[in-house]
Amino acid sequence: MKWQDVIQVLRLLVSCVSSDHAEEGRASIYQSVFTNSSKEMMCFPDFPYPDDYPNYMHHSKLQEYIKTFAQKKNLLRYIQFETLVSSIKKCPSFLVTGQWEVVSEKDGKQESTIFDAIMICSGHHVYPNLPTDSFPGLHQFQGHYLHSRDYKDPDAFKGKRVLVIGLGNSGSDIAVELSRLATQVVISTRSGSWVMSRVWDNGYPWDMVYVTRFASFLRNALPSFVSDWLYVKKMNTWFKHENFGLMPLNGSLRKEPVFNDELPSRILCGTVSIKPNVKEFTETSAVFEDGTVFEAIDSIIFATGYDYAYPFLDDSIIKSRNNEVTLFKGIFPPLMEKPTLAVIGLVQSLGAAIPTADLQARWAAKVFANSCTLPTTNEMMDDIDEKMGKKLKWFGQSQTLQTDYITYMDELGSFIGAKPNIPWLFLTDPQLALEVYFGPCSPYQFRLMGPGKWDGARNAILTQWDRTVKPTRMRAVGKAQRPQHFYNLLRILSFSVLLLAVWLTFY
Ligand SMILES: Cc1cc2nc3c(=O)[nH]c(=O)nc-3n(C[C@H](O)[C@H](O)[C@H](O)COP(=O)(O)OP(=O)(O)OC[C@H]3O[C@@H](n4cnc5c(N)ncnc54)[C@H](O)[C@@H]3O)c2cc1C
Ligand SMILES: NC(=O)c1ccc[n+]([C@@H]2O[C@H](COP(=O)([O-])OP(=O)(O)OC[C@H]3O[C@@H](n4cnc5c(N)ncnc54)[C@H](OP(=O)(O)O)[C@@H]3O)[C@@H](O)[C@H]2O)c1
Repeated sequence: MKWQDVIQVLRLLVSCVSSDHAEEGRASIYQSVFTNSSKEMMCFPDFPYPDDYPNYMHHSKLQEYIKTFAQKKNLLRYIQFETLVSSIKKCPSFLVTGQWEVVSEKDGKQESTIFDAIMICSGHHVYPNLPTDSFPGLHQFQGHYLHSRDYKDPDAFKGKRVLVIGLGNSGSDIAVELSRLATQVVISTRSGSWVMSRVWDNGYPWDMVYVTRFASFLRNALPSFVSDWLYVKKMNTWFKHENFGLMPLNGSLRKEPVFNDELPSRILCGTVSIKPNVKEFTETSAVFEDGTVFEAIDSIIFATGYDYAYPFLDDSIIKSRNNEVTLFKGIFPPLMEKPTLAVIGLVQSLGAAIPTADLQARWAAKVFANSCTLPTTNEMMDDIDEKMGKKLKWFGQSQTLQTDYITYMDELGSFIGAKPNIPWLFLTDPQLALEVYFGPCSPYQFRLMGPGKWDGARNAILTQWDRTVKPTRMRAVGKAQRPQHFYNLLRILSFSVLLLAVWLTFY
């Protein structure tokens, strides 16, 4: 099968347009968005960002990178811009060929094309979740309300009293931005959130320190009460969430934290306040569940997240059960007679979107080309059930797209032989092994071996801290610092010795 035969609707963050209004059917972001993944953790795995790029970047900078990637990899010839896919149907010969008929629209003209396989990469931040029914009295509210998708900049809110509903990344970014111009900003949250800084231990980007194989091993190996206790303790080290009203109702759930360096300081300055869920609205006010009232509200911003939908596809293809999208590893519909359709980019994790989509697409391409086979339908359904149980335990009901990044990436990597073989690395290349195991689980790790191996991966891993520090060390004083993995090794050894000592003492 040729690549041209696979329709790639994927355009990653390029599509998160920053025009002055949200466009139908496309993701939309506000002008001030900066990434919350750092550059070494969110690159295409064979294409590091230039070393002078900032660690967290404005969306325009990210768009520049994606455009350069597309040009350098000669991808533009495969993309049909300004073309809407309006329908995807199985061909009459599907049982034999696995082919699809795709209807697309450009400049008012429809075109029908047959494809051997399809990757659906249409995103999941397009359709706003606007839960108006959950808020009694909203219909009588006389001010103005909108979804965060339609928020572009703070100008219109100067001098206003604004209620932001939802404490995700959108809600907190928007509240912080508004707090400089608005008279008062209140965030209402029904379940609270952990708020983390992008600047983590010793000033390193959070994900370079937090998303490591060693940390993932500890999280999974420790008894859950210990791992939960450590998680809550770590999340509370920057500031005590109870004192700021931010504390999650279930603190040990690994739902996506909020990354916001300024929110605690805005709360300390009194320009943002945190309130519980809204019980009801009156014509001008919000009454919260604790009985307090925010009066004379000018605007409400519903930062209540997104729903996803595939309007171009018959529901029966993608919803295997209970009218829910049910996908094997978040990618393959398990009931298909031929595995020629994959959904890329739907799962969410603490890892970045680009490397996740890369690995998903590599696996899907192999399945399409018949060089990897999927398990039987029953096995896939069993796996879906098992994973759903784990997800509910770790992430809770409202985050069912979530998954644990390293576990998930390793799973996908093992399907195609791209999971790094750590014991082998320790035997053959200890310097690299130390960085792979204790250092950030950066995307290059999945290009070290197997199909799609990139010869530059080893060097990219060994120089990732140089690229991290370069843009912040514009004035060279002293020697550049980087985390010392040797100490982590010592920590493991002393932890093991301690466990052994406890065991020998009591048994
Ligand atoms: C404000 C904000 C900040 C974020 N920050 C980060 C971050 O720091 N790090 C990170 O990893 N992730 C971040 N994310 C998440 C990240 O943007 C998404 O996970 C990522 O964009 C998903 O890429 P995608 O290609 O799957 O979907 P999208 O980026 O939504 O792209 C989907 C594409 O499909 C096209 N499309 C949709 N339907 C059709 C159709 N019928 N026909 C033709 N084309 C169609 C759309 O026009 C678009 O071009 C952020 C998201 C938001 C909203
Ligand atoms: N700077 C950045 O990088 C950045 C900025 C913005 C967004 N993003 C990303 O974009 C994605 C979407 O973020 P988002 O903040 O728009 O959405 P989100 O993460 O889904 O958060 C939605 C918020 O709305 C609340 N909510 C939903 N329904 C509600 C209801 N009926 N009543 C009360 N509260 C309700 C949720 O509360 P519960 O927690 O109780 O469900 C949650 O606090 C995320 O992946 C995020 O990381 C990134």
